[in-house]
Amino acid sequence: MIYCSPHAELGPSGVADSSRQKSLPGIFSRIAGTGSYLPEKILTNFDLEKMMETSDQWIRDRTGIERRHIAADGQTTVDMAERAARAALDAAGLAPGDVDFIAFGTTTPDMLFPNCGVLLQARLGCRGVPAFSVETACSGFMYALSIADKFVRAGEARRALAIGAETLSRIVDWNDRSTAVLFGDGAGAVVLEPADAPGILSTHLHADGTYKDLLYCGGGTDLSKTRRTIAMSGNEVFKIAVGTLCKAIKETLAANGLDRSAIDWLVPHQANLRIIQATARRLDLPMERVITTVQDHGNTSAASVPLALDAAVRSGKIKRGQLLVLEAFGGGFTWGSALVRY
Ligand code: UT7
Repeated sequence: MIYCSPHAELGPSGVADSSRQKSLPGIFSRIAGTGSYLPEKILTNFDLEKMMETSDQWIRDRTGIERRHIAADGQTTVDMAERAARAALDAAGLAPGDVDFIAFGTTTPDMLFPNCGVLLQARLGCRGVPAFSVETACSGFMYALSIADKFVRAGEARRALAIGAETLSRIVDWNDRSTAVLFGDGAGAVVLEPADAPGILSTHLHADGTYKDLLYCGGGTDLSKTRRTIAMSGNEVFKIAVGTLCKAIKETLAANGLDRSAIDWLVPHQANLRIIQATARRLDLPMERVITTVQDHGNTSAASVPLALDAAVRSGKIKRGQLLVLEAFGGGFTWGSALVRY
């Protein structure tokens, strides 16, 4: 779908000429609204103590997590994403019919196909617009945001939804205490719209598939991958995550010629409070400028960054005009970051 932007010129047929749009300067994207959704059911560390050989103390000391939300029976990733998307549209003063692009990060899709983006599109009633999902694990939202930003800047979308949503409770092995205590369910969304000044200043995406065995979940068409629940070499992932996220943040600042003192808020992937603290420490960023929701949400994979962003926006911490760094790291490995003027 071609969006006829205010800057676009019309071709001979009166249809927007996309090749000319792309070379036009001055179209940026900005976050018009954020939204999120968490399922009602809360599973505390004390609840987990009754289910497996673990303790609230261990979980809090090693991860910072105190509770997580768990989807109700029958509630799906798209159910949660729809709530988050509608909340983001409300915040932007837009209607579902205004959406003309959907990029949906998830590794827990309702079905193998149609993809979650398409299922969400049908719920929102914006028929005909491009809709797809991105399966880059915890960095799914960063990928979705980056793609949506490019479509808006290219003049090919006007109101783009970037989503991260997960129902990880369905792919967790509840008998494996080393992973079961970490994850939660939820959804987050942002709506992007064109702007004269940059809202999304830059995005940076990376992947290294040689680490595929450190964090994975089978269940696809490779039947030799018999494990259909999350498998993780936690220690190794931890170390690589800290180093990689530090590099990603530095890359983001360097690309914009900025020093870390310019950042108002770091909105990091919420996997483990110790990872977040170690990253902040290495970058000399005070924790007062870091958004943390991991204590309340656990690791919600692709949903974690937009959930944290929305929580901070709605609580009044993050204000219009402030400069944010968003980052995430996950299975693959995949990782991504963004510099955002909110
Ligand atoms: O979102 C994608 C990216 N994911 C991440 O970034 C996660 C990265 N990894 C981590 O966050 C941490 O490695 C974990 C939280 C997963 C684990 O923390 P750790 O400090 O690396 O612990 P560990 O795996 O080295 O285990 C230490 C001990 C072991 O016992 P022994 O062998 O020392 O006797 C485990 O068996 O803790 C034991 N343990 C537990 N004890 C109580 C493991 N899980 C639990 C548990 N409750 N739930």
